[in-house]
Amino acid sequence: MSELSRGPELMEKIVSLCKRRGFVYPGSEIYGGLANSWDYGPLGVELKNNIKQMWWKMFVQRRADMVGIDAALLMNPKVWEATGHVATFCDPLVECGFCHARSRADHVKTMSKMTEGFGDFINEYWRDPVGTAKAKPEFLMNTSWTCPTCGKGNELSKTAPRQFNMMLKTWLGPVEDQTAVVYLRPETAQAMFVDFKNILETSRRRLPFGAAQIGKAFRNEITPGNFIFRQREFEQMEIEYFIKPEEWETHFEHWVGELKKWLKLIGVKEDRLHYVDISDEDRAFYSKRTVDVEYDYPFGQKELYGLAYRTDYDLSKHEQFSGAELKFADPENQANKIVPHVIEPSFGVDRTILVALLEAYDEEITDEEIRIVMRFPYWMAPVKVAILPLSKKEELSVPAKEVAQMLREADLTVEYDETQSIGKRYRRQDEIGTPLCVTFDFDSLEDKAVTIRDRDTMEQVRVPISELVVEIRNRLV
Ligand code: GAP
Repeated sequence: MSELSRGPELMEKIVSLCKRRGFVYPGSEIYGGLANSWDYGPLGVELKNNIKQMWWKMFVQRRADMVGIDAALLMNPKVWEATGHVATFCDPLVECGFCHARSRADHVKTMSKMTEGFGDFINEYWRDPVGTAKAKPEFLMNTSWTCPTCGKGNELSKTAPRQFNMMLKTWLGPVEDQTAVVYLRPETAQAMFVDFKNILETSRRRLPFGAAQIGKAFRNEITPGNFIFRQREFEQMEIEYFIKPEEWETHFEHWVGELKKWLKLIGVKEDRLHYVDISDEDRAFYSKRTVDVEYDYPFGQKELYGLAYRTDYDLSKHEQFSGAELKFADPENQANKIVPHVIEPSFGVDRTILVALLEAYDEEITDEEIRIVMRFPYWMAPVKVAILPLSKKEELSVPAKEVAQMLREADLTVEYDETQSIGKRYRRQDEIGTPLCVTFDFDSLEDKAVTIRDRDTMEQVRVPISELVVEIRNRLV
């Protein structure tokens, strides 16, 4: 691994590679885009699917105590009243008096000690702009706030923070009135609580057990940004793990361990991770303990995943608002019923992808050329094998294409590439992280064998075509 700067230039390289090679593009680009929306291209969707499938295998299919669901994205609006999202799922918003851009008050430097308590005066001022003597008392000019969009500003030029609900609203049916309002879910989590009774009855589980879901969530973020880090439409992989309250500490520790195993599997360097215990004043009111997994992104240390002990808050609220009984009855004594408590590990799919891209990116200087290699774990790589005939001539291209098709039918993702020199073709595959390149040469016509080249070791071995599928599978494990 070469010495690579992990500053903002790494972010630029990742964004540019993603666009150039078809991992992630700006959404609606030919129409000038749509603020901070991103589309996953042909390679991006393979990478994303590999990550989601591995997560599902590890946390659902390989565990006896987990089940999965795939719930509707639009839920009865009472769900969000019950959880408190309608009333409190808000961010503090401020507006710049110069460019009118809105930003999150907690994402920019706010009032200095000098201006504390002058909020109303300042708020009044910015609507009554520029130039009056009242406008520029020196002690107010030397404050720390600058607009993250235009770079201008001081306390006088921004509004006082006001609360802004982040749920996206729409209407069901032809009449756009208050009775038809529904929300695009801001988290996948609630479906696991709302479906608790059905899950329990149909899967006949006992405590402890968990329900998992992967799917889209929507938040009207005031300041989306940093590529796919903060978006308005994103994907989550969430688990609600139902437990007896007296066992919460043991289960919490178990899930810290599981998070660590997952992070190792996706190849994140340990020294770039921070497990931050969220303090009483910063924690959501319903949580008794929250640990945020934070990562050293090129734009700073920020949240990657969250782990929360949500107590019985959600199930109790849904009992209260729906009238349904959401309890677990002790099988030995049916009269002994409890509302289970919950440990919630929550993973962002897009942040996982961003971290996987940042961790995989590597550069090697060879012959005054930069070799970019995406060192994805092999299971994660969007293309597993590239088939490269040594010449474009039909003599080689026809049988090489047959080998490619044979591998596709063995469920491997394959790219066939016959243009330009073999060296350039290797570079192209390295740049998208393809673990194995298979060259089909003139000898292949005689000995019915091909050469496999490994992305990381650069080792080359000759393998009979008849054994190729097995050989590749063994190497990808
Ligand atoms: N159910 C709990 C919950 O939703 P959260 O911390 O708000 O908790 C969980 O979100 C995870 O979802 C985050 O750790 C992050 O990975 C991802 N996430 C949240 N907001 C996001 C956004 N605007 N864009 C991309 N990912 C986001």
